[in-house]
Amino acid sequence: MSKKLWGGRFKKEIDKQFEEFSKSISYDYKLAEYDIFHSFIHVRALQKSGIISKKEAKQLVMALWEIKVAVSQKKFTPDLTAEDIHTDIQNRMAKKVGKLAAKLHTLRSRNDQIVFDEKWFCQAQAVVFKKLLYTVIASLEGFAGRNSGQFLVGYTHTQRAQVVLLGDYAGAFIQMFSRDSERLDNFLNSLWIYIGSGALAGSAISRESYDAALKEFLHELESKFKHTKTAIVKNSLDNVSDRDFIIEFLSIISITQMHLSRLAEDFILYSTREFSFLDLPEEFCTGSSLMPHKKNPDFLEIMRGSTGKIYGNLTAILTTMKGLPMTYNRDMQFDKEPLFSSVEILKEELAILARFIDALKIKKENINKALEDESIYATEIAEYLVMRGVAFSDAHELVGKIIRYAEDNKVKIKNMSDGVLKKFHPSLDIKKIKAIMTPEYAVSSKKSIARSAKKP
Ligand code: ARG
Repeated sequence: MSKKLWGGRFKKEIDKQFEEFSKSISYDYKLAEYDIFHSFIHVRALQKSGIISKKEAKQLVMALWEIKVAVSQKKFTPDLTAEDIHTDIQNRMAKKVGKLAAKLHTLRSRNDQIVFDEKWFCQAQAVVFKKLLYTVIASLEGFAGRNSGQFLVGYTHTQRAQVVLLGDYAGAFIQMFSRDSERLDNFLNSLWIYIGSGALAGSAISRESYDAALKEFLHELESKFKHTKTAIVKNSLDNVSDRDFIIEFLSIISITQMHLSRLAEDFILYSTREFSFLDLPEEFCTGSSLMPHKKNPDFLEIMRGSTGKIYGNLTAILTTMKGLPMTYNRDMQFDKEPLFSSVEILKEELAILARFIDALKIKKENINKALEDESIYATEIAEYLVMRGVAFSDAHELVGKIIRYAEDNKVKIKNMSDGVLKKFHPSLDIKKIKAIMTPEYAVSSKKSIARSAKKP
């Protein structure tokens, strides 16, 4: 059984079942790297304030580096008998430097460490997400580029609405993911990582000592973490009890997840036999154990289905924090699993999605067939009449009547005679109708969007 960071005031041994129940080492070991960062700064601050000697500080820093290297090389296996990552690292230090290790935890609290560690974790993951979002955006740009000039039926209410460019459709998702990336920027810009709270009331180490320690530490890590705002605590009570940043980060992740879920839904729908606009890459689909013909969109479904977990994780932390008295409370230990869970899911989704889109193909013939549906040009006919001086409500009514006539008489608008068309409005004739009812015209007639206009 590993040594604890507390115990002096207790006569009885901890209940074994409770001890197991209360441990967080099985998941908080993921914070090892950042906990060592805290220790680096702390050791320097202790030295600057004269609590430990330069020699002792050097010994401690060297031992910490050894653990840090093990973490970076993925050779760090958590000691599952320890209560948490802070205890685990402390015990490793004891093995490396003996009694001197006891001086490492001088005048500091895990309450200060844990919030510091988690903020660093969020900061590092936000940077990873920005890169992953960029690869998804690049894959969407690639998809648009491979299919440049392709038109698509645009939908509202899942009903055919108007013609759009496939590039604009892909561009809509690019906009969503760009906003997500901006949200991450804002998150990173407002994330202040503090040190020096003690348990809640602050530390006996002076601000000058912390200041000098921070300068040294940040200088060392400058190239790797340009954005970090690691600083001396402003309000120690707030700092140890604050988990807003996790709620904010999980909110951003939830919004990104909502975008992913909508994309998944579209792609699933468009890959059905009923739509048949998309040919999903086989390597991301699965078959049925019973029905030999099936090619199921499992990646997209798993991505859409993960939304439950991701929203659930946000709800979990919001609920844990609700009504907690100031300041740190052990309930807050449950902030980590939702955070790690959402981060892992989103990372995998984005990495796979980029490759999925790289391999995604369209079924051009079926899309073009859908574009022959005359109803999707109704708005363009109305717009054409408006340009000829007809009031829009009259044009709307009039085109509605043409559509009704076509349906009732089972005739295509493009096959109507000039005589019939002119009865609806004198400025209509079959030549104009044919010119208007094309994807090229429909798209180029939209002047609010920067494109070269083509007139019929
Ligand atoms: N495992 C704890 C957590 O995750 C670390 C902080 C412990 N602090 C304490 N006072 N028991 O919140």
